[in-house]
Amino acid sequence: MATRASGSRNTTSSSDADRISSVLSEKRRFAPPAAFSAAAHVGSARALSALRAAASANVVAFWEEKARDLLWFRHWKKPLVWKHPHAQWFVGGTTNASVNCLDRHLGGWRRTKAALIWEGEMGEVRTLTYQQLHGQVCKAANALLKLGVQRGDVVAIYMGMVPETVIAMLACARIGATHNVIFGGFSSEAVRERINDSGAVVLITQDATVRRGSFVELKSAADAAVKKCPTIRHMVVLSRCGIHCTMKRGRDLWWHDVVDGASPINEPAQLDAEHPLFILYTSGSTGKPKGILHTTGGYLTQVAYTTRMVFDLQEDDVYFCTADVGWITGHSYVVYGPLMNGATVMIYEGVPNYPAPDRMWDIIERHAVSIFYTAPTAIRSFMKWGEEWPNRHDLSSLRLLGTVGEPINPEAWMWYHSVIGGGRCPIVDTWWQTETGAIMISPLPGATTTTPGTATKPLPGIEVDVVRKDGTPCKSNEGGLLVVKHPWPSMLRTIYGNDERYRAAYWSEFPKSRNHPGWYFTGDGARRDADGNIWIIGRVDDVVNVSGHRLGTAEIESALVSHPRVAEAAVVARPDEVKGNALVAFVTLKGSAKASTALSEELRAHVAKEIGPIAKPEEIRFAEALPKTRSGKIMRRLLRELVTSGTAKGDVTTLEDAGVLERLRMQEEE
Ligand code: WT7
Repeated sequence: MATRASGSRNTTSSSDADRISSVLSEKRRFAPPAAFSAAAHVGSARALSALRAAASANVVAFWEEKARDLLWFRHWKKPLVWKHPHAQWFVGGTTNASVNCLDRHLGGWRRTKAALIWEGEMGEVRTLTYQQLHGQVCKAANALLKLGVQRGDVVAIYMGMVPETVIAMLACARIGATHNVIFGGFSSEAVRERINDSGAVVLITQDATVRRGSFVELKSAADAAVKKCPTIRHMVVLSRCGIHCTMKRGRDLWWHDVVDGASPINEPAQLDAEHPLFILYTSGSTGKPKGILHTTGGYLTQVAYTTRMVFDLQEDDVYFCTADVGWITGHSYVVYGPLMNGATVMIYEGVPNYPAPDRMWDIIERHAVSIFYTAPTAIRSFMKWGEEWPNRHDLSSLRLLGTVGEPINPEAWMWYHSVIGGGRCPIVDTWWQTETGAIMISPLPGATTTTPGTATKPLPGIEVDVVRKDGTPCKSNEGGLLVVKHPWPSMLRTIYGNDERYRAAYWSEFPKSRNHPGWYFTGDGARRDADGNIWIIGRVDDVVNVSGHRLGTAEIESALVSHPRVAEAAVVARPDEVKGNALVAFVTLKGSAKASTALSEELRAHVAKEIGPIAKPEEIRFAEALPKTRSGKIMRRLLRELVTSGTAKGDVTTLEDAGVLERLRMQEEE
């Protein structure tokens, strides 16, 4: 069957039709290997259906049973209190995330099991057993307490992929501080915005991080950020690279000075189930990033359960999720999920093609990794680098593969399956979001027959549907909007400091009505096929998915407009073979400014400075004017069509000046 390497992810563009028909013709089916099913937690389609039906009959009782797998100081009084659109799970219960990740494993032989195997980009390897990780977390917790961090305070973490990042997160969780991890690839402007929005009192960072063989300074970026962060009282700096840092007296402290000498004994805080565990910023369709707030008991419950089931975790697995801890995947499936299950977690510091494009396969071989979880964009890069790289390595330790972040195109799925999985490993395509906190739609590897391109069906305890704008259910294969119909334990609780925006972004599309109690709108378009499998079509708002990361076009536009020469900007996406989508920015200039290649480079660098290199547009197109409606709204839909198909044939009746589009089109043909 012929499949395209990538399709449009924009529901509004004309090439959706092609994409839908291309996936509709997908006939390949992959049943779980018998030996895999025989040893799996859920080993047959029938067992999974029964589980799903039982959970559906009483969603709350189902999750209560899963919550019992955690350690609680005090049992909850009510499993769910739902006051639209706010959920509270396991109300009255008290627990602690770090206790569930660490202390609970110390009673038996697991205390000497490797919790983290870390590999630095330069090749160093450090292993921390559960006992050792616990000791480090207790020390860091005591150090934070000594710095005056109190329960409920926010601590920002701006670091790379080193064990201390995990230690810092768990130390916060231990004392009841709410962590706000800021991706180490963000610029100082982005760091400042996230610190100020969250009101963080301490920033934990490192001198520099290692990337592609060189040092990327984080401390100096942190210094620039906190110049305008009045709430920051201290900065704790890990010396990762041994480079010189300017330390501000009274404010800045070295990690080794405050942590190494601290006591390894720390009494964990007994925290309410609804105590805020972390804030994580993600892009939205308008303006500034949204601080997604997750709390403790419900989050831990669903993350622990999904890790065990979706990855069919067994005691001797070596589990490797390539996500950076700066994203939700790193929170849920590098740190909390696997550690709560007592797994051995592989973490890698650097880029996947350093010193050569086989770094991942080399790691898998040397550490006998058995579960590998990565993003479709990474898989497409691996494909491009060529199969000679994985073929140099013995990948027979692998038994399960996973993907997350965007729809996986069938060609990449097949490559992953045959070249990496040797045709023997099931693939779990997992759909979820920063907001959902944990996996929502996914196969169970011992039970589900998979088809390339679909995350299949909701997990037990999760009620999703594909509906029309008026809330009526879509017919099979009819495209519609993906909604969640019942509260789930790891759902976001609000947008930090902006509950109005929380209501508007997720709960206004399908408000409470006579027919239903109000549904959560995911922002994704989807369809359900005749077998009930869900196919994600893409985002329906002005949010684009580039390399598996969600970027708000509005945020990039406002970065562009903050440049002195730019008058207006509109950012849209076009399909890209490796990244899934590439960004194209249409820019109009102020008065005397002249378009040039140099200016285009300058604007790209400006976006990198304002947000980070991930947000850099692939292409800048200078325009005389942007297509607008009579009321002055930029018609991004037309620009999207223009960059994907070269023309804009859609409805242009609301366009104020038809000539604008004509001129943009001609520019395209030049
Ligand atoms: C958006 C969420 C969840 C961690 C990584 C991204 C898209 C995610 C899949 C998948 C198709 C997917 C959706 C979703 N997405 N996983 N398996 N198949 N699309 O987290 O930045 O919060 O983005 O990513 O559009 O809404 P995020």
